[in-house]
Amino acid sequence: MKSTDKDGRLHIALVSLHGLIRAQEPELGRDADTGGQVKYVLELAAELGRHRRVRQVDVITRQIIDDRVDSDYAQLEEPIGPNARIVRIPFGPKRYLKKEALWPYVDVFVDQSLSYFKRSRVPDLIHGHYADAGYAGAQLARLLAVPYAFTGHSLGRVKRQRLLLGKQTAEKLEKKYRFTTRVEAEEMALETASLVVASTHQEVQQQYALYENHASDRMEVIPPGVDLDRFRPPEPGEDLPTIAGQLNRFLRDPDKPMILAMARPDERKNLDMLVKVYGQSEQLRRLANLVLVMGCRDDLRGMASGQRRVLQNILTLIDVFDLYGHVAYPKQHTSDESTELYRLAARSRGVFVNPALTEPFGLTLLEAAASGVPVVATNDGGPQDILANCRNGLLVDPLNPEVIEHALLRVLTEQENWDQWSRAGIRGAKEHYSWSAHVERYLRDIDDIVLHSDRPTEISPRRAKRLPEFDRLLITDLDNTLTGDDAARQRLTDALQDASNVGFGIATGRRLDDARTMIEELGLPMPDLLDTSVGTELHYGEQMHPDLSWRRQIAFQWDRQGVRTVLDQQPGLYLQEEKEQSEFKVSYQLDPELAPSIGQIRRILRQAGLRVKAILSLGIYLDIVPVRGGSDLSIRHLLYKWGFQPEQLLVAGDSGNDEGMLRGRTLGVVVGNHSPELNKLKGWPRIYFAKSNHAEGILEGIDYYQFFGNIVIPNDWTE
Ligand code: GLC
Ligand code: MG
Repeated sequence: MKSTDKDGRLHIALVSLHGLIRAQEPELGRDADTGGQVKYVLELAAELGRHRRVRQVDVITRQIIDDRVDSDYAQLEEPIGPNARIVRIPFGPKRYLKKEALWPYVDVFVDQSLSYFKRSRVPDLIHGHYADAGYAGAQLARLLAVPYAFTGHSLGRVKRQRLLLGKQTAEKLEKKYRFTTRVEAEEMALETASLVVASTHQEVQQQYALYENHASDRMEVIPPGVDLDRFRPPEPGEDLPTIAGQLNRFLRDPDKPMILAMARPDERKNLDMLVKVYGQSEQLRRLANLVLVMGCRDDLRGMASGQRRVLQNILTLIDVFDLYGHVAYPKQHTSDESTELYRLAARSRGVFVNPALTEPFGLTLLEAAASGVPVVATNDGGPQDILANCRNGLLVDPLNPEVIEHALLRVLTEQENWDQWSRAGIRGAKEHYSWSAHVERYLRDIDDIVLHSDRPTEISPRRAKRLPEFDRLLITDLDNTLTGDDAARQRLTDALQDASNVGFGIATGRRLDDARTMIEELGLPMPDLLDTSVGTELHYGEQMHPDLSWRRQIAFQWDRQGVRTVLDQQPGLYLQEEKEQSEFKVSYQLDPELAPSIGQIRRILRQAGLRVKAILSLGIYLDIVPVRGGSDLSIRHLLYKWGFQPEQLLVAGDSGNDEGMLRGRTLGVVVGNHSPELNKLKGWPRIYFAKSNHAEGILEGIDYYQFFGNIVIPNDWTE
């Protein structure tokens, strides 16, 4: 694969899946998923596109077709600026989904993107943003053998810890936020990434450090930039902006200095604390107005319940403290108006306040700094870095009302300090937080990775004779799926023999020699494709030609001896017989009473610095394979190489080592006698749980999808 174009310029794919992403008038703050991350990704893309080292930047996100949101989100492509665009890939239901509901479709996205990249061009670097795209991007990077970068934006382990301090039980939280899935996705992204971009030092030390795949040598703190053209200090003699008229509807004395807060209505933003502080401080009420900009809303009653609760609480507090005429809380503002609000606050010699319980970064503080308004900010999280660089105000304990009041009063009354903070903020933002500075550092790191990363040869579609003769392919596991019911197996093989357009493949945990013996013993037709040793070896055609491009690709970072050294000494793990071991697979039998759990085993491997996959089947078979192995990737490699559409492929399995190939856009069948490892796939799209066992279950699945006729997909998505 050629790494870059002739003059060495890069093609970068930024993957960011949730929220509403558009370049024109982005609807930031419209809902919980459309906020800082969306803005970050768009601004990063725009700046990268302008850089001479960059040929093309694609922001890859989800296509949404839904009357409740604008039709812009249905466009397949939208320009952002020079050399930068949004590419929208359809996956899952067409309608808008909140991020927690996207999980069952993330593998579907991987498959869709794979065919997209195949049609267009494979980028030089994939950069995943947040857990969902973190996982998807990592899968794509592994599959396409492209270097990978990751930015978590916010992390599941941190959020879980924080929420566990509250009233809700662990089970409730799990159900609502899908932490297990999210954290596994984050681990996988961290494991794959050659570069992890963090915004603050606290993020690295206290947040990423909670992860097993945290590796400090791959972490870089590169703070995001602020758009300095838009966020600028007021000029003398400038007209009052239109948003001022909005505020005047609320305020008895609009000329007073402004205490400005701008945040989504989210409990963590701690805005009710601010209203209480203001409501209880006679001095603050006398000196200043309070302006609360809490996203945009049409009808309060139609809002998500969490947001509505926060807003209702604030409205109640305004009433309780009788703050009418002192507090403004406009319903709507455009993104240009938000820049004006900061300038208005600066003109009024006011203060910007962010009292969040914790603030991962604190972009609003930078916008305030660039606009010349001093800040009072939470001491938890990113603001520490920002204030250390910009020296544009005071840090406070967000739980201490007296301290918040005192700090606000200082900014509003100490005139000389006000001027000092204002000037320092403007200077500091320019010096430390411009997107161009960010991009310079980012590209320096990326260059290094792109040059030094291992790049196995690209999958080249060299056709073997038989495979392309088919227009669809049935791939089944051997043990307990195809075996177990001889009569049904016979019916299945008969049916296959009659259907000359259907290819036949076997995917098994067994080794090639072993699998072949078994196939002969069972009197099965020789398969057109064999995927053996748990998705680590692919062979095609009667001659069983090995897939060499797959072999080269899978060797990435594989350390067989390292695995043995670490796992041989674990209690309850017994190495399987020599004939079960193969070049890219180390297998143990496990005594569930004595052995560490699969989670612990993964942790042990990660802590030893081994980048591998650990797969448990039937509760007792443990296979360790390379990170780029496993049936999820081997089957996708096959689709990609042979140009099959995922819906032309029916896959059937019963246990843990089949999970990978069942996920994603292929048509999945789980036989009735499946082991509990697969329960987690229940309710997932394109995964049919058959009632019948063994080969009878496969036949039931064939019927369900009408796989031998005009294929139908009744479970394309599920609620
Ligand atoms: C097959 C293999 C064995 C593996 C198991 C689970 O039984 O022979 O080595 O551990 O599948 O994948
Ligand atoms: Mg099996």
